[in-house]
Amino acid sequence: MEINEIKIEELNTEEFIKEKVEEISSVVGKGLAINALSGGVDSSVVTMLGHKALGDRLKTYFIENGLMRENESQHIVSLFEKLGVPVEIVDAKEQFFAALKGITDPEEKREAITQTFYKDVFGKLVKESGAKYLLQGTNYTDVEETVAGIKRQHNILEQVGIDTEERFGYKVIEPVLRLRKTGIRKVGKALELPEEIYSRPPFPGPALSARVIGEITTERIETVRKATKIVEDELCNTDAFQYLAILHEDKVTGMRGGKRDFGLQIEVRCWESKDAITGSPTRLPYETLDKLAKRITTEVLGVVSVTYNITKKPPSTIEAV
Ligand code: XMP
Repeated sequence: MEINEIKIEELNTEEFIKEKVEEISSVVGKGLAINALSGGVDSSVVTMLGHKALGDRLKTYFIENGLMRENESQHIVSLFEKLGVPVEIVDAKEQFFAALKGITDPEEKREAITQTFYKDVFGKLVKESGAKYLLQGTNYTDVEETVAGIKRQHNILEQVGIDTEERFGYKVIEPVLRLRKTGIRKVGKALELPEEIYSRPPFPGPALSARVIGEITTERIETVRKATKIVEDELCNTDAFQYLAILHEDKVTGMRGGKRDFGLQIEVRCWESKDAITGSPTRLPYETLDKLAKRITTEVLGVVSVTYNITKKPPSTIEAV
């Protein structure tokens, strides 16, 4: 991989911000650029860099793909509005669910998301707005994992030989490509983003679709969304790197009210990691695990089994899909 990583010890946030703002301004020139804000650290930092460089020549969208966490779009849009950055919500739920219909293979899911995001949704927004550039928050780890063939992260395009101008009609600018997550958090802090944003646990680009094993349907996403909310509520006070709920494809026999209930399984993962390259499960207190199991089986309809994953990465990966 030819990209030169900026290690955390080498990162001077003020210089980095100055350099990236100048770079974005000179590449975009007098034209327009668009970007998608998901509320994660990477896209939030890129939104602020782009806003500093281009002001209202950057149009920021929140793509409502139906795969996000509970109340995410309204929360993020109002938070950025307070920072003086207007964000428009684009409702693309139907497009994403249609593209994901019937797909069970993880890499095919990522490909469906990539095509829907970059070709259908952004392709149309670019045409309508007249923008020639898309700013996005690809980071060093995303590229590394994709090039190593572990997972093709949905946002990796040019590094795997995709000519975005030819395929989708716009060029991609990736200001945080040389940084890993810890560096991006530091830049977020220097950009005066709220701590809630710059210290947020990572969340994958394919969103909750990376946390449903098997087919994606609105019902299955709703199940994992409810379980995610409980896991985040219960684990947000740990210092863990990332915590998540996964909906399994297989059902298991359970019992409710003295009767057999063939129901759903949720797997909980909670990771200690620095940069997602390797990881180990957090040694959560048994009381916490017990509470998670009780809440998930009572509050999420149809769930009869909750497990906690105790595998390290490698051989596991952080997400299940
Ligand atoms: P894995 O599962 O490969 O995840 O151990 C490493 C880190 O990357 C996130 N992740 C993704 N992020 N698109 C993304 O933008 C993806 O397709 C994707 N898959 C995993 C994951 O949440 C973890 O932080």
